[in-house]
Amino acid sequence: MTDPATDAPPPPEAVGPLTRGLSVLRVLSAGGGRQAVGDLVRATGLARSTVDRVLSTLARLGHVRTEGRDAVLAPGLLELGNAYLAACELPDRLGPYAERLADALDESVSLAVPDGDGVRFVHQTTRRRAMSLAFRIGDLLPAERGAPGALFAAGWDEDAWRRWRERRAADPTDAGFPAVPPRRASDSGRGPGRDADTNSGTNSGTDPAADPAADPAADPAADFASRVEAARTAGWSLDDQLIEPGLVAVAMPVRDALGRPACAVSVVSHTSRLAPGDLPAAVLPQLRETVAEMGQALAAPPPPIAVPTTPRHASWMRASKQELGPEFVESLARGLLTLTAFGTGRAALPLTAVAEATGLARATARRALLTLGHLGYLTSDGRLFRPTPKVLELGFAPLSGLTLPEIAQPHLAALVEQVHDSASMAVLSGTDIQYAARVPTVRIMSVNITVGTRFPAYPTSMGRVLLAGLPEAERTAHLARTTLAPLTRHTVTSADRLAALLEQAREDGYALVDEELEEGLRSIAAPVRDRDGRVVAAVNVSTHAGRRSPTEDRDALLPALKAAAARIEADLHTAGRYLRVPLT
Ligand code: PHB
Repeated sequence: MTDPATDAPPPPEAVGPLTRGLSVLRVLSAGGGRQAVGDLVRATGLARSTVDRVLSTLARLGHVRTEGRDAVLAPGLLELGNAYLAACELPDRLGPYAERLADALDESVSLAVPDGDGVRFVHQTTRRRAMSLAFRIGDLLPAERGAPGALFAAGWDEDAWRRWRERRAADPTDAGFPAVPPRRASDSGRGPGRDADTNSGTNSGTDPAADPAADPAADPAADFASRVEAARTAGWSLDDQLIEPGLVAVAMPVRDALGRPACAVSVVSHTSRLAPGDLPAAVLPQLRETVAEMGQALAAPPPPIAVPTTPRHASWMRASKQELGPEFVESLARGLLTLTAFGTGRAALPLTAVAEATGLARATARRALLTLGHLGYLTSDGRLFRPTPKVLELGFAPLSGLTLPEIAQPHLAALVEQVHDSASMAVLSGTDIQYAARVPTVRIMSVNITVGTRFPAYPTSMGRVLLAGLPEAERTAHLARTTLAPLTRHTVTSADRLAALLEQAREDGYALVDEELEEGLRSIAAPVRDRDGRVVAAVNVSTHAGRRSPTEDRDALLPALKAAAARIEADLHTAGRYLRVPLT
């Protein structure tokens, strides 16, 4: 497979539309996940019409949305990063150990893998205090900044060191690493703000610090090389504020069955908690123990070959093409689809398996795999293809902060477009519901509802589906704590009657509440379940009670409401695979 670092020309079979689609995704990701379409055109150098077709294809895939003039990354894009993370198995196998270590030390713990001459995060358990920046899954560090890089560089050959020096020369401020604060061009490669003053090369030649030959610490290559040597000897590596003042970390490698470092575990702290010199002694004993356990977890037999779970299939592609015509670029959609053939128990696949999983013709799958390989998203030994951590570059970090309200908002807006009534999402908070998202139309309530508004759960449709979703014992306990006051003449105030209505809501999968919270107000709600099937939120449509009968409202609103809830759930399940998605 061609090495992207050598800038080899694309293979003759390379799929142009796939290459162009990936460059749009990369630019959009580097811009934080939202960019004006005009800026995308400028940054990619592609024609406006090409960018438009790429965006409509990506929108169909659920990978982006357009909002006015902006293109915005959408949760569906996380499917690609999920495929890599599932295939590499590191978060699934080692995540629980990282969590335990973070709990034991009360510090952040992360897992990172080598990615070219950089280091990419694949897991984060943040106990980060407000004072320092937190890296996200998918973020990339230069190897020389941060603790893990020195561990990985211990295995570099001459070529890798040459590429590292070339990158440093070509990008003196680390502009290619948007997750880290800029390096000062004159910096030694140590942390800006720590000893940058003593090492800055702006002094006259009489200052020994300005002359690399006189002071090895002033020569970035020598400084990094000596840290790499120290890490090789000690088996661990220290980040003494290499990224930003105050941020300190200790890392150790976790080796695979062949003794190669599969990833690095970092314990991250702050100088206000622990002086850099004290950090190793404070964390190494527990870190060593955890690394040993992680090594054993990696050596456990691989999961059985799994059945593919590609979210879409070649037949979906054909239907989309029929519907959208030239606005659906099939070769781009197919190319991205091949990445989702990888996953748990599907870390390395031959062409045939990718074609089978996706329903694509072998020749189509082959061209897509070669293109992705050329661009560095896959490696191959000639027969088996494997996704690389670079796949996370496609939007994973910018999407990793998504909350459930952010996920829900566009789906609620689409629902409101469809039914012309207000739609909301709420979560349970004590015996109340609390609004977490809302898309209003006309106001039909006497009180103005905003995000954060609370109502008692029992006389509301969202409250009823949330209560209906509780385990039996919790539901009973909840009802015992609640006083059922008559808010209108329709409010159900009998505990037995309410219990029966909740049971009904559980069976039906929705609740309709008619004028129990406020006269004239009717609403219908459906549950939103997380990956484990727990009801974590409810979505509703509220309407005027005078317009139609309750049955007519149910027939008119429920299908669209359930479809919206299903779309929110699908995004939540994709996002929740490797990320913790806040509910409010
Ligand atoms: C982190 O996980 O945020 C982290 C890891 C290693 C470092 C610095 C920060 O050296």
